[in-house]
Amino acid sequence: MTKFDAQKRIEKLKTEINLHRYNYHVLDKETMSPAALDALKHELFKLEEEYPDLVTPDSPTQRVSGEALDKFEKIHHDTPMISLFDAFSQQDMIDWQERAIKILAKEGIGGFNLDLNLYNPEIVSLDYFCELKLDGLAISLKYQNSFLIEASTRGDGKVGENVTGNVKTIESVPLKLREIKKENLQSIGFEPKEIDEIFNLLEKGIIEVRGEAVMTTKVFEELNKKYEKEGKAPLANPRNGVAGSIRQLDSRITAERKLSFYVYDIILPFTLKTREQASALAALLGFKTLQQNRLCQNLKEVFAFHEYCEKNREKIPFGIDGVVVKVNNLSLWSILGIVGKAPRYMMAYKFSAEQAVTKLKEVIWQVGRTGTLTPTAMLEPVRVGGATISRATLHNMDEIERLDLKLGDSIIIERAGDVIPKVVEVLKNLRSGKEKGIIVPEYCPVCGSAIEKIEGEVAYRCINKNCYAISLRRIRHFTSKGAVDMAGVGEKIIEQFFNAGLIKDAADLYNLKREDIASLPRFADKSTDNVLTTISSKKLIPLSRFIYALGIKHIGEESAQLLADYFLVEKKEQVKKEKNISLNVIKDFFVSIKEESLKQIAEIGPIVSQSVFEWWQGKDNIDFINKLEKYDVKIILPEEKKNISSVLKDKIFVLTGTLNGLTRDEAKDRIKGRGGKIASSVSKKTDFVVVGENPGSKYDEAKKLGIKILSEEELLRIIK
Ligand code: IVH
Repeated sequence: MTKFDAQKRIEKLKTEINLHRYNYHVLDKETMSPAALDALKHELFKLEEEYPDLVTPDSPTQRVSGEALDKFEKIHHDTPMISLFDAFSQQDMIDWQERAIKILAKEGIGGFNLDLNLYNPEIVSLDYFCELKLDGLAISLKYQNSFLIEASTRGDGKVGENVTGNVKTIESVPLKLREIKKENLQSIGFEPKEIDEIFNLLEKGIIEVRGEAVMTTKVFEELNKKYEKEGKAPLANPRNGVAGSIRQLDSRITAERKLSFYVYDIILPFTLKTREQASALAALLGFKTLQQNRLCQNLKEVFAFHEYCEKNREKIPFGIDGVVVKVNNLSLWSILGIVGKAPRYMMAYKFSAEQAVTKLKEVIWQVGRTGTLTPTAMLEPVRVGGATISRATLHNMDEIERLDLKLGDSIIIERAGDVIPKVVEVLKNLRSGKEKGIIVPEYCPVCGSAIEKIEGEVAYRCINKNCYAISLRRIRHFTSKGAVDMAGVGEKIIEQFFNAGLIKDAADLYNLKREDIASLPRFADKSTDNVLTTISSKKLIPLSRFIYALGIKHIGEESAQLLADYFLVEKKEQVKKEKNISLNVIKDFFVSIKEESLKQIAEIGPIVSQSVFEWWQGKDNIDFINKLEKYDVKIILPEEKKNISSVLKDKIFVLTGTLNGLTRDEAKDRIKGRGGKIASSVSKKTDFVVVGENPGSKYDEAKKLGIKILSEEELLRIIK
């Protein structure tokens, strides 16, 4: 190859590699497999080795330098890297807004007038650009003539450290800013004069951007596991992980840590219109910006956004500890100014602490649907994660032993988002000596029957199959939303029927008579009618719901669907012309099925097969089915099941991340409606993984196994 050809090839390779890097690391879309990308990088490396003078600073081969440094050089920040004030409550935010509006009113800024009391937040408010507050390390990047020339840490705000070599290894940091089109700038509200200035800067000027380098929770956990194995002290949090990676003298080590970089500020010699526009500009220049960021018209919307983020923080792949609320109109920033170390025009609205210390008062044992006893910790009430908590789950006796928990102990509890609070640690040093051990009850706290420990399991169980608690829970499960869905026949009503001796199991519901219930307290004519109508409207039950409603151990909604599909495929010829199927047909099929055949169903493992097999061999269970049959309960066949469209027939889908256009249930129903199947975890048998926003580890797993990845749009196209 001539040098001229090599140069052309190098340019093409750089553009191609950069495109897929951008898609993957900035847009989170994999458009080329890592192996193919590596092959292109290797070819580029070889060509550059042959023609070293063709190496440019933005070449992908320049991301990792070969040698370790002795120390970091100091860098002076022309614009200081300041910090933020914190707010911990809605009131703090209201006070902050009031202070800001008062300043603006004093300065005579339009709309805010103190005399007219227009600083009242109910009457006038600012709009705010809200961003997630990333828990990482602040980094400043300088681009000269579009090329990355310097990356530095915050340091003391005035002087930081030069960490360019390490930051270059972060794939979401562009080595060269993306070329932009005038139309794109126009579409985000830039005037022709501003557009010219931006183009000038890109050609011969300096653009500085600031943002946060973050480590995903997954990488953090893997790193800690590795440290544990090597006998090293674990990292306290992902932030320390990032700092340790960036302040690392050998950039090859930084590269292994797979950090990401998100921009939250862009410094230009002129003021942009809004923070929202600045964020859009950063995205155009090739940076990763947070998809979750949102423009809020007033504090009410800010509070709703904050609450939403706090609830869903577990779904974000890296740590966040609040929302940064920024006055959107950038011309107000200089008026509001900076006080001391932080600006008045933005506020870090923190999430509530997720851990708290309290005392364990008592342990109560709840009897579940299958008779399993679950211990629940009763606590001295305490505020944590924005709610008052007085109970926490303890899972089972093994967990109590693992924690070495005693009654009266001071404990740390943790609550993240909507997750049920759990006990994470016992503060043994605070013990007084009066603490008492926790023992499993000998008799069921509900019916008084004996408690047995199940061989090979950690659980204890009430031996009485007719235990009040077990029966009630079974009936409630049968009528629940995911099962037969008898809306209006809730917990209280079921308990009332049960206590009055009207029902012993869910089948009895179908045999209730008007006169049976009309005499019960609080059953006026109307509610009697409503309940009876609801029950009789649920005599035709879709098969998957029916199987789930039976409450077979280990059978959730997804595995129930797999069993239903299995039946429909096996019995296709017989059920083709039918609208409904009698329970006898279902019973005969499942009673005669072999455990081995169940194991052959994709995604059904040996434990589930055994449980299903044993359930259908149980005499009481068959009596229950017979009773339902007697009361005319039937299985209804959905039309589309009978003519499963061939495109998705038997294809196994796994969903991960948040979908925008569909709810997860809608997506599942539509996939199933077209013959596809849903599984909860990725395995070699998975055909497609549908990836929404902020996908979880299933996405990585899918990539590892080389399973076809679908975006939401692609899914919609397929299921249309
Ligand atoms: S704007 C005035 N936006 O929080 C400083 N900061 O506690 C400009 N941070 O040093 C900050 N996420 O490193 C801003 N979306 C976000 C942020 C964010 C995290 C960090 C930043 C700053 C620290 C202050």
